[in-house]
Amino acid sequence: MDRRKFLQSGLVVAGGAMAARKGLAQAASMPLAGAISAEEIAQARFPRDFLWGAATSAYQVEGAWNAEGKGESIWDHWAHTPGRIKDGSTGDIACDQYHRFKEDVELLKRLNLKTYRFSISWPRVLPNGTGPLNLKGIDYYKRVTDALVEAGIRPFCTLYHWDLPQALEDRGGWPNRDLASYYADYAGLLAKHLGDRIAAWAPFNMPWSFLYNGYATGSNPPGRASIDDFLRAVHTLGLAQGLAYRSLKAASSKATVGSAYSYEPAYPKTESVADRDAAWRFHMLNNVFFLHASRHGDYPRAFAGEVPYEAMGFRSGDEKILKVPLDWVGVHYYLRLAISAASRAAQPAAGARNADPMAQFHVEPFNEGQRTDHGFEIWPRGLYDLLMQISRDYDHPIIEITETGGVFADAPGPDGQIHDERRIDFYRQHMAELARALRDGARVRAYHAWSLLDNFEWSDGFSARYGLTWVDFVTLKRTVKDSGLWYGRVAAAGRLGV
Ligand code: FCB
Repeated sequence: MDRRKFLQSGLVVAGGAMAARKGLAQAASMPLAGAISAEEIAQARFPRDFLWGAATSAYQVEGAWNAEGKGESIWDHWAHTPGRIKDGSTGDIACDQYHRFKEDVELLKRLNLKTYRFSISWPRVLPNGTGPLNLKGIDYYKRVTDALVEAGIRPFCTLYHWDLPQALEDRGGWPNRDLASYYADYAGLLAKHLGDRIAAWAPFNMPWSFLYNGYATGSNPPGRASIDDFLRAVHTLGLAQGLAYRSLKAASSKATVGSAYSYEPAYPKTESVADRDAAWRFHMLNNVFFLHASRHGDYPRAFAGEVPYEAMGFRSGDEKILKVPLDWVGVHYYLRLAISAASRAAQPAAGARNADPMAQFHVEPFNEGQRTDHGFEIWPRGLYDLLMQISRDYDHPIIEITETGGVFADAPGPDGQIHDERRIDFYRQHMAELARALRDGARVRAYHAWSLLDNFEWSDGFSARYGLTWVDFVTLKRTVKDSGLWYGRVAAAGRLGV
């Protein structure tokens, strides 16, 4: 998006900014902030062919971390290092979907869902990231996708949801430009073996954030803290996205390739030009960086200083690789943020050549809405703003909502059931905003709730439950929560008043 337009845009509302300044904490009994009226909810309708679904990712649900030839991933390595995961757990078993996928497909069917977003574990298929194929790994994904197709559920495949083969990290990880072509080979192999049953492919889950957390701050694996590594990794990703697009299409004529980016609507904290400008820069880096690259063949001019092409290792001709016409845009939405101009200028830290592009912002959560049990503010209106913004800025692309959801800790009651009313309310409000966006012209065709199951929530281990289904992590028994049953009714009826 053009900087000038963003600064003028009505979307960049100051109303949220006011609330952030007030810092209101609301009582639990108050309605959700930004709530849509009961009448509008009752009237909300969705197209008959709208795809209702749920999402998971390999490391978070599969388990079987070293079964049948699977190689180690950076998340296996990280979780096996003491002190990394809040509750000391690992994804070694997780939800054991590797052995229970049939039961999970049955669950999806029971909830009337028509799309399942899952990810493929790169080291399960190629234990070393390159080289010999693990046929047992490919067979597993054939069985999963066969079961989905047979149940009338569309398999939506994310190729990379953070579990890099450790062998490739040992060869330099994402800062190593060679990974772009290894990744493209992996993508081609998947399309060759699974392309008869999978048509929806998303190369990367939240690329900007996993690179930033993995290489710039080191809070996630591989745990490096180097801006120079981060910048090189960013460019490898841009190339990998472009090359994977081409290898997926070359190997499967029915492949459609989109994205699974996370968007945090960036509202300027005040109406000052400096804060509006900061919000624009944050949006361009954090939200649409790789979408911009695919459209324009370059990177947004939103860095502290010039775009650091040299530090990224950009070579002449790379612009042609970056540019690919993605078939649809995938959107995760969890929370909105208040952005202000940083009080501290972005300077290279000691020993680094480049400034951290994120240091130039001050980023704060808002406090106006209620919160999930994870502490995230609930702001359904952000989904509407986001869908309309993407529609406007990118010529009304087809959009898939790839994730939304929240942590609500409600546990089984004396009746053994999980009465998670707050999650129902959360989804109802978000879907009402979605209905409004559809009415106002956004071309959204799918909605994936995060998540089908309670699962291994990265550094939070099993302590953060996002599922429509309760998982007992001792017995691995699944119990559909009230929210799952409600979601199933919405999916069947195509309306919210159920
Ligand atoms: C997203 C991740 C997903 C899950 C949810 C809660 O950022 O893509 O794996 O952890 O957050």
